[in-house]
Amino acid sequence: MEQTKPKHIVLGITGGIAAYKAAELSRLLVKQGITVQVVMTEAATHFITSATMQALTGHPVLVDQWLDDKGMSHIQSSRVADTIVIAPATADFIAKLAHGLADDLLSTLCLARNCPLIIAPAMNKQMWSNAATKRNVQQLIADGVTVLGPASGVQACGEEGMGRMVEAEELAMGIVAFLKDGESLNALTPSLTLSRWEKELKGVKVLITAGPTYEAIDAVRGITNRSSGKMGYAIAQAAQEMGAEVMMVSGPTALHHPPDVRVTNVTSAAEMFDAVKQHVDATDIFISVAAVADYRVAQTSEQKIKKHDGNLTLELIPNTDILAYIAALPNAPFCVGFAAESEKLSEYAEKKRRAKKLPLLAANLAQHAIGADNNEIILFDDAGEHHLPRADKLTLARALLRHAATLYRKGKSK
Ligand code: CTP
Repeated sequence: MEQTKPKHIVLGITGGIAAYKAAELSRLLVKQGITVQVVMTEAATHFITSATMQALTGHPVLVDQWLDDKGMSHIQSSRVADTIVIAPATADFIAKLAHGLADDLLSTLCLARNCPLIIAPAMNKQMWSNAATKRNVQQLIADGVTVLGPASGVQACGEEGMGRMVEAEELAMGIVAFLKDGESLNALTPSLTLSRWEKELKGVKVLITAGPTYEAIDAVRGITNRSSGKMGYAIAQAAQEMGAEVMMVSGPTALHHPPDVRVTNVTSAAEMFDAVKQHVDATDIFISVAAVADYRVAQTSEQKIKKHDGNLTLELIPNTDILAYIAALPNAPFCVGFAAESEKLSEYAEKKRRAKKLPLLAANLAQHAIGADNNEIILFDDAGEHHLPRADKLTLARALLRHAATLYRKGKSK
């Protein structure tokens, strides 16, 4: 039988309060037979001692570039590592990585590496949503770095939002899977985070609208939009992964729906409205992803309209806003809206959320989102804005649903 080589990781710890979770992470990794070489920044030593990390890993901890690097440990350590994991990764360290700075041992080691790099960000929610951090994280993703988390929840500073480091157990699970099975880094995120959320929506009934609508003008022509339905279908899959009973009302798309998701196919906004009304009584969470046409043609022609000289004027009349109608019901389900804006994203999105009285709204720039396979989303809720960095739509769908599930549970427990 082929003997598998013992695995070796460099665990980089940077200076944030979540550094205490690195102790548990290294304990779990060592338990799995993985050699863990800890490298700490000077700031990290203010949060957790190198003695603790040395005792847990059985190896001297490297901190000081000048003391510890006499033997070129920044090159050696990275050469023997199967992967480098930075947990926690502070905003400052992320900025350093994004710009290729190498002014301490850990950043030098990252720059000199020839192995994959995984980071688990941890910071205050405002720091996470700051434009500079967003730019830096996007740069790292573009450079092939895997970004795990952050998670949403109560932070050490007392504020609540996106920025907590993913729990040590989840991180360890993902790292082990990656090292053992050579799972691709892209596949790492789902395997890493699914287990914890697997049952989060068990028994919860989720109704989703997806895709565009098609408003007929005559027998062969109509008004529609460029929505592909990908985001709605990804949300259906993510909800199902989390144990929900999923019902989807879909406009015309070219997509296959996930198995076990019940689907009602519709064409027009009016049909979508009828289908949603039929299912809403049995709904706990309503997620309105569909790009519903705001207007329909007042007089549709059963026959094809013939060409004539001169202009043709079509009268358009408003469609019911399905989401606003559902959110205003006396026993309304927990409602999640979407906003696709082409400018002034934050201002328009928050205005829309308040106008439709929604606990949660996901907003994106229409020109970046429609038809694309990946996207960047900002979530708006009563606590403020939460940025989900650019990722594929399924990853975003999972992050959105975890956030929605957390708010939904919180609302139920009040
Ligand atoms: N929506 C809906 N029914 C409609 C129109 C919109 O359910 N007739 C829902 C969408 O599914 C989305 C949210 O409302 O969740 C926002 O839709 P959007 O078209 O972005 O906003 P509008 O309120 O229509 O405003 P505007 O078009 O002016 O941006």
